[in-house]
Amino acid sequence: MIDVNSTKKTNLMWVEKYRPTNLNSISSHEHIISTIQRLIDEDCFPHLLFYGPPGTGKTSTIIACAHQMYQKNYGTMVLELNASDDRGISVVREDIKNFASTKNIFTNQFKLIILDEADSMTNDAQTALRRVIEQFTKNVRFCLICNNINNIIQAIQSRCTKFRFAPLDNKFIKERIEYIIKQENLKVEEDGINAVVRLASGDMRKAINILQSVSMTTTQISEEVVYRCTGNPDLKDIEEITQILLKDDFEFAYQHIQNFIIQKGISLLDILREIHFYCLSIDFPQKSMIYILMKLADIETRITKGCSDKIQLSSLVACFQQARELATNEEMNLENN
Ligand SMILES: Nc1ncnc2c1ncn2[C@@H]1O[C@H](COP(=O)(O)OP(=O)(O)OP(=O)(O)O)[C@@H](O)[C@H]1O
Ligand SMILES: [Mg+2]
Repeated sequence: MIDVNSTKKTNLMWVEKYRPTNLNSISSHEHIISTIQRLIDEDCFPHLLFYGPPGTGKTSTIIACAHQMYQKNYGTMVLELNASDDRGISVVREDIKNFASTKNIFTNQFKLIILDEADSMTNDAQTALRRVIEQFTKNVRFCLICNNINNIIQAIQSRCTKFRFAPLDNKFIKERIEYIIKQENLKVEEDGINAVVRLASGDMRKAINILQSVSMTTTQISEEVVYRCTGNPDLKDIEEITQILLKDDFEFAYQHIQNFIIQKGISLLDILREIHFYCLSIDFPQKSMIYILMKLADIETRITKGCSDKIQLSSLVACFQQARELATNEEMNLENN
């Protein structure tokens, strides 16, 4: 059992320190947790397939579940394999088959094989697994975990009960962050907590990691500190940039954003994402808004593919210039009608 106070000065990552140890301490996913709890209680545990975005509690849930089922026998009854292990067909033929084919003579319980990050298993390995899953159902249950369910072959999907772990609601992330703040005796302003929650976008791991890294740089955590430490643009700066894009000419807007990028060391991609959020909250003629959103998506794709930042910045400014023209035309049309 981890003593919170004694570990405070160690460099233990908070994501591990605060990993839920039992099913009750998993935030959100009430429906999934209660279903799994019922399956355990009624002793009709199926093969499971957990999928969903990172940091939503998939690994934590199955580990908490396994600890609850096996307690001190965890070590002998559970086989955990993740992306750091070999994921080829030989693992299915040897490690998995060996573990699955043997029965613990001291208990009637089935064993559990956790295949974490199963979407990185080769297709051959997944195909080989189909038969193993069926053949050893008496001895063993499988829990496959992945981010992208499309990378799991249909035959495996149909053998498992699927649970989707959706991005966590901000309410649950906030609750957990407030709990950690209390345990760690941190001083965090309300807007600082909101900034952490907002930047996490449904990923609890990201929220906890941001909190830990920010707490290492300062004792008084505010919204501004959170944005600065994570290399994200401040909301006020984004508001100003968007207003310039909407009102000023091409030359001025381009220079302003370029200077901002150089002075604050913030990436164009982060600026673009924040502008996208900000745009969703402003009142703008529909046609222009649709145009802007489509263009922002294109620019994001091009930046992530490694295209030139300067050209993409000019495309961003141009997109707003064009959207303004569309808005003016729309207004004129309305007046004429
Ligand atoms: N629902 C949750 N309740 C409480 N803590 C959570 C939850 N989800 C994630 N966490 C925190 O985030 C950390 C990472 O969670 P976990 O490893 O379960 O995510 P995951 O869904 O398996 O992500 P990945 O797909 O990247 O493997 C945990 O150690 C825990 O601290
Ligand atoms: Mg995981």
